[in-house]
Amino acid sequence: VTREVALRGPAATARLAREIAGTLTGRELLLLEGDLGAGKTTFVRALAEALGIDPAWVSSPSFTLVQRYPAGAAGFGLAHADLYRLPPGSDLEPLGLEELLAGDDLVAVEWPASGHELWQACGRPILRIRLQVTGATSRKAVVETATGRNGDGAKGP
Ligand SMILES: Nc1ncnc2c1ncn2[C@@H]1O[C@H](COP(=O)(O)OP(=O)(O)O)[C@@H](O)[C@H]1O
Ligand SMILES: [Mg+2]
Repeated sequence: VTREVALRGPAATARLAREIAGTLTGRELLLLEGDLGAGKTTFVRALAEALGIDPAWVSSPSFTLVQRYPAGAAGFGLAHADLYRLPPGSDLEPLGLEELLAGDDLVAVEWPASGHELWQACGRPILRIRLQVTGATSRKAVVETATGRNGDGAKGP
């Protein structure tokens, strides 16, 4: 299922994040795509806030590519990766993403392209959010909920 949302201003990005936060169980994988400045971190910050996590903790990870924020009111934590600075062709293993994907935190990834195989293999329902710059004060989101293997969330024991 794909839907497009026009986002006029950062508050609209935050609103979309809050709306999506309300549908999450913590078992999902959020892939945030889009150029620098498209609003990916803005989205994650509002998502964290909606889950009862202090949004001030959410920044663009610089030296640390992966950050974990402890659970808030929603009852699950958030693992936030930003793979922008990951040199092309690097081994993802040391980042510990596999362990996080097997764990109990919600996982959100900015610049997810280099982890494609990991995302496909993890069995989590994938929510792909593509953010585009449409003007100085506007963005567009294309939200895609995968169906089938990764989309039904029904991974047996
Ligand atoms: N819908 C929007 N319309 C206009 N500006 C936005 C929107 N969403 C976010 N921004 C702004 O874009 C800038 C970059 O946002 P950021 O979340 O850091 O992008 P990214 O993480 O994708 O690089 C910030 O100044 C933010 O306030
Ligand atoms: Mg960012």
